[in-house]
Amino acid sequence: MKSVVIEQPGELVVAERPLPQPAAGEVRVKVAYASICGSDVHIWHGHNPFAKYPRVIGHEFFGVIDAVGDGVDPARLGDRVAVDPVVSCGSCYPCSVGRPNVCTTLQVIGVHRDGGFSEFALAPAKNAFSLPDSIPDRLASLVEPFTIAANITAFLKPQPDDVALIYGAGPMGLTAIQVLKGVYKVKKVMVVDRLPERLALAEQSGADQLFDNSEIPLAAQLEGVQPTLIIDAACHPTILAEAAALASPAARIGLLGFSGEPCSITQQSLTSKELSLFTSRLNSNRFPQVIEWMEKGLIQPEKLVTHYFPLQEIERAMTLFEKDPRTCCKVILQMG
Ligand code: NAI
Ligand code: MN
Ligand code: ZN
Repeated sequence: MKSVVIEQPGELVVAERPLPQPAAGEVRVKVAYASICGSDVHIWHGHNPFAKYPRVIGHEFFGVIDAVGDGVDPARLGDRVAVDPVVSCGSCYPCSVGRPNVCTTLQVIGVHRDGGFSEFALAPAKNAFSLPDSIPDRLASLVEPFTIAANITAFLKPQPDDVALIYGAGPMGLTAIQVLKGVYKVKKVMVVDRLPERLALAEQSGADQLFDNSEIPLAAQLEGVQPTLIIDAACHPTILAEAAALASPAARIGLLGFSGEPCSITQQSLTSKELSLFTSRLNSNRFPQVIEWMEKGLIQPEKLVTHYFPLQEIERAMTLFEKDPRTCCKVILQMG
């Protein structure tokens, strides 16, 4: 089979690899579509501290089960599945409280073990979620990025009368906008980005008000409006302090970033308004919820997609994705 392998940081190849056999409890998925995420680019460049090399990347993928290991119901052969990349132990403290995404021995498919930029991929059978026919193959790899928005909004508990502010209109910001508008029916969702092209995508995804902070700081444009719910999907370390300053008293702030840089913030700026901070990593069992949202048409994954490429053009696809955020948002690889 052909697989996209990062042999070592900086070295991306499409390699011929032996077809893997599913172990007990696993399924093999014949991958049909897989989408590129910023973290795939980070593994390529050696900027992901968790990745081990060589690695088949890709954690957002969809396909059909074509082999099952011992103990897996053969009736699952032929199932169309989206794969949850979060592999957890099931028994540690975070697993025991329903937080497998921060399992003490967390393994992420495509990061800690081989992933979905490949003609075939292995996964635990319980990570392979069967999809209804109403979710088309070409959009099914986008279940995973929407689980990020599902996870953070589960903490933030959006309400219809919230005044929401989202930093960043990349894939993460757009999924958050769609979930706030389509699922939680939040009346006002404001979005700030530095790129007008990204703000145009935010508008298409349902944002009510757009701010370009490339020249004028956001604070000067908000005219005193104090957001009650803020999601940082741009993830620059300076944003938290700004968000705390702009937030309404009693607001909730959701953070998604992984920067190793310190961010400077006073206790007073948080405590005087009694702000709640939530962080969110990947997803905790959110695949069924997102699949239901897609099935009901509450979210529109097609609005994120700008490009499709065949697997063989992976390097071109990853380079475009990385270098050209003005024309590119979600890029999907087509296998076979
Ligand atoms: P992206 O880079 O495509 O989007 C970020 C957007 O923020 C861009 O449109 C950029 O122009 C904008 N931006 C950057 N600095 C800004 C600022 N100071 N003010 C306003 N806008 C600004 O990235 P993507 O894929 O949307 O991911 C966003 C972040 O989410 C990344 O940092 C990524 O590491 C993180 N992430 C976290 C996950 C989690 O589970 N916690 C999962 C996936 C991504
Ligand atoms: Mn991703
Ligand atoms: Zn665990």
